[in-house]
Amino acid sequence: MKVILADYSGFCFGVEKAIVTTFEELDKEDKNQKIFSLGPLIHNVQVVKELEARGVDVIEDIELVSEGSVIVRSHGVPKKIYEAADRKALTLIDATCPFVKRIQTIVEDHYKEGYTIVIIGNPQHPEVVGINGWCDNKALIIQEEEEVKKLPNIEKLCIVVQTTMSISQFEKIAAALEKKAKEVVKFNTICSATKQRQKSAKDLAQKVDAMIVIGGYHSSNTQKLVSICNDIRPTATFHVETAKDLPVEELKQYDLVGVTAGASTPKWIITEIIQKLRNI
Ligand code: F3S
Repeated sequence: MKVILADYSGFCFGVEKAIVTTFEELDKEDKNQKIFSLGPLIHNVQVVKELEARGVDVIEDIELVSEGSVIVRSHGVPKKIYEAADRKALTLIDATCPFVKRIQTIVEDHYKEGYTIVIIGNPQHPEVVGINGWCDNKALIIQEEEEVKKLPNIEKLCIVVQTTMSISQFEKIAAALEKKAKEVVKFNTICSATKQRQKSAKDLAQKVDAMIVIGGYHSSNTQKLVSICNDIRPTATFHVETAKDLPVEELKQYDLVGVTAGASTPKWIITEIIQKLRNI
């Protein structure tokens, strides 16, 4: 069997940075100092288990921690978490993706200058919740164009967008918002990593007989890759988390197989799967 890996797959820059930062901290951490992760570091069960084995506990609320270090994951957190860490004299290991940090800074600065902040994105997503926490949770969060109609007219508007939104959705909603305000500043803060992964999965699915998509079953960016590949190879797209999930017997009928992976999939899982496929 011939196996081709998509040009862009697996860890994005921000996730890679979060993992490296965490493992570096673990290596240098003095043994008595406990490390906590505020939410699972990435959407990958295997990595979270490995971190747990090294003593990193996942917590949902910083108020539950009285000493040690707390990791902020790539999605970022509201400003109040930094204040809580200061107040409680906790060490914050800040692995916020620089692209997310940039949005937080834009929002904080414009909010201080009197702009109404609009975040185009999913209100439940931790990245959006985090960004909103840099303007006193006063942002208007818009996910669908329809929602813009219900808004009153606004004097000064600052528009940002969740890093993983689709560009067409952003443009549609931003255009509708622009009609609602006298003064608008608009920042396209979509990160190219998601788009690159989706485009290269689509290109590869067109060239091969079957596609393997690697990533957490609950990871939304992985599910999006699965649906893109499914559209092209409806009966020959397989979503797996690890090498043991590969349907080996079924795969024997294919000569050329493509592999892609979600942004939270570590390289060692991808390598193991490619190796197993090559042996079929
Ligand atoms: Fe950062 Fe983009 Fe990844 S915003 S966390 S590099 S998807």
